[in-house]
Parts: sequence; C-alpha cells; structure tokens
Amino acid sequence: MTAEHSHFDAMWAELQPIGRDGRTAGYRRFALTDEDLTLREWFAGECGALGLDLVEDRMGNQWAWWGDPDATAGVVTGSHLDSVPDGGAYDGPLGVVSSLAAVKRMQDNGFRPDRPIGIVNFGDEEGARFGVACAGSRVITGAMTTDRALALKDADGVTMAEAMQRAGRSTGIGRDEETLRRVAAFVELHVEQGRALADLDPATSAVAVGTDIWPHGRWRADFAGRADHAGTTALGDRADAMLEAAAFVQAAREEAARRDGESRCVATVGKLDVQPGGVNAIPSHVTAWLDARSSDERLVLDTIAALERRFPGALSQESWTPTTPFDASLCARLQRTLGAHTPMLGTGAGHDAGILANAGVPTAMLFVRNPTGSSHTPEEFAEADDCHRGVDALVKVLEDLASV
Ligand code: GLV
Ligand code: MN
Ligand code: MN
Ligand code: MN
Repeated sequence: MTAEHSHFDAMWAELQPIGRDGRTAGYRRFALTDEDLTLREWFAGECGALGLDLVEDRMGNQWAWWGDPDATAGVVTGSHLDSVPDGGAYDGPLGVVSSLAAVKRMQDNGFRPDRPIGIVNFGDEEGARFGVACAGSRVITGAMTTDRALALKDADGVTMAEAMQRAGRSTGIGRDEETLRRVAAFVELHVEQGRALADLDPATSAVAVGTDIWPHGRWRADFAGRADHAGTTALGDRADAMLEAAAFVQAAREEAARRDGESRCVATVGKLDVQPGGVNAIPSHVTAWLDARSSDERLVLDTIAALERRFPGALSQESWTPTTPFDASLCARLQRTLGAHTPMLGTGAGHDAGILANAGVPTAMLFVRNPTGSSHTPEEFAEADDCHRGVDALVKVLEDLASV
C-alpha cells in the first residue's frame, strides 16, 4: 500500500463490516434502516474530515461541497452506499469511497478548483426495500412523484413515509430544483457489472468511460387463486395462483429469448410474494416482480407487450428508464483526459447517473474492471490496484472539469 492510496484503503476497510449479512458473505444495506443510518453517519464524518459542507436535498440524499455551488454550479461525483439483498461490497460504495479519496488527493496536492466539486451519496439506489430503484434521484428530479414515493411499501407493509418518520427524517420530499441547479456535470464512478473490461488488453483496460444505459424497467404481475388445504382439496377443485405465476416466469424467459440476439434482451423474475405462504396451503395470491432490459428499447417493450397478451390484466409497470445516452461531449472529454486507449462502454445496469442524465444534467460514468464480471452477488470484485487506478482517473477527470 502506497501512502497515495492509504486513505482509500483505510476507508474501504472501515466500510467492510457495516451491513454485512451474518449468514452469507453478502451485504444487506437497505434504505432507512439502522445500517443506512450508520453509513450516512460514516459518510458525514469522512466529509467533515475533508472540510466539506454537507447538505441534504429534499429526499435526504447527502451532498458534500468543496466550494460554494450557489456561486458557481459544480462538478459532482459520488454514487450510493445501499445494496441489493446479499449484495457485493463494490456496487455503490466504490464510487463513494473513490470520490472521497480523489478529493483528499486533490487537496493534498494543493489543487485549487475554479468551480466547486461535490460528492453525493444517493439514497435507495437499488430499491431493495421499497421496490423502485434510484428512488433518491427519481424524487429530486421529479421522475417519481412525492405521493407515489411516500406510499411505496416494504415487504412488511411499512410505507416509505412511515420508515422516514421512524428514522427521524422529514417526509417533505419532492422535486428539488435548487439542488439540481448546483450540478454543472455529474460523473459517477462504478464497479463494472460485466466482463467487457476483463476480456480486453489487461494493460489498458482497468478503467472505462461509460457511454449509455440500456432501457430497462420493473413490472409486477399479480395472480389470484383461492386458499385451501393442501391435503384435502382435490387437484381438480383448486384455484392455485402459483400455477399461473410459474407459467409467467417461464413465459418471461421465452419472450426475452425470442428477441435476444445481436441486441441483447433479458427478463428476470427475481422476487415472488406468495400468500398465505404456508407449505400446506394452496396459494391464494402470488405477486411476481419482473425486471426486463435490452440494448434496444423496441425489444424490451415488445417483450412486455407479448407478456400482456399472454397474461391479460396481470402486469402493472413499477418503473421505466428509457434508452439513456450520456453526454457525448462529456464522454469524449473524459476519454481525452484519460487517454485515447480508454475503452468506451455501455451498460445494462441502472444508475442514478441515468436518472440525472434524463433530467438534463450533463452526465457520464467511469467503470472499474471487475475480473469476476459478476455483480449483485458477493462474488462482485475489483483488484485493489484497479480501485486505485479508478481513483487516479477520477482525480484527472475532476481536475480537468473543475478548471476553467
Ligand atoms: C441497479 O443496480 C440495477 O441495475 O438494477
Ligand atoms: Mn493499496
Ligand atoms: Mn446495483
Ligand atoms: Mn450501483
């Protein structure tokens, strides 16, 4: 470990135990839980140590500023600290920790930014608890209404409004023009969630510029049946909601596979709710959550339309993010800054960067190589040296963007 990277390494080590699931190697860092509160306090402490001014926006996302963004709009980096159920260590935290390390390095080097530099910690990026991904950025950009956000429920029926009150947070959430006005550009660093970089020349591919996000959405499908005794009810007398749900899971796969080709098309049912939920009771209701994505918007919409024809009235849309190209001139500038060898990559994963881009903020991303190619699992990984290269890249990019 070099002194140059010791700040990154120390922060990284500190974060590892927070929200780690005792039963597995993964993380359970969900919005508005004790783990979330601990992570937010950790972030505030690190920002304080760097002398940054911490403010919360109208959704409770944390913004830390080096300089005054009300005088001149700033260059913002950062990511999120929450996780999917049994998630990996890197998705989210790598961007936050790299941002803090980059700011410290610039300060230590005596860099004087001409425009403010900000670090954001977005809340509830994964939507693991309340179902809608990027809830923090969706609310402040108006991509999700206040009423809808407050009414979202977790698996125990606790609404987001109730969870906010329990966490001592304001429910006065909503679109936040004042915060958005402060952001001249947003660059989110993130672990890569596929193996594109790992398959390239190892000498030149530790960091890529992210160019676009695939269109993607979440739907829920509801299937009704009638509860009854699993032993005494004849097969012919049953209305078993699970049978239609199982057919739906198969159909989602079939319809995506039919369209998958040069343009990828994928569909996943990763979560089911079964009522009443007894091994010896016939399911009276099943809710299946569908995630569908493609590099071609038409293919994902066709997949959904086909499922709507096969299961009339079952589907309702929970969220939708259209094809999201990042700012072409910002992407080109990042590549110029990092060198012409720097790969340019699109991604099938969603990010707060996509929500900001769709709200008109000039946005781009940096991806750090992940040799496993896996994400949303404890196998997600990045070598320490590559993480350090990510910080080096972020320093170059921020110094460039914050200079007139
Ligand atoms: C967020 O990580 C998503 O792509 O689901
Ligand atoms: Mn090191
Ligand atoms: Mn994720
Ligand atoms: Mn992420």
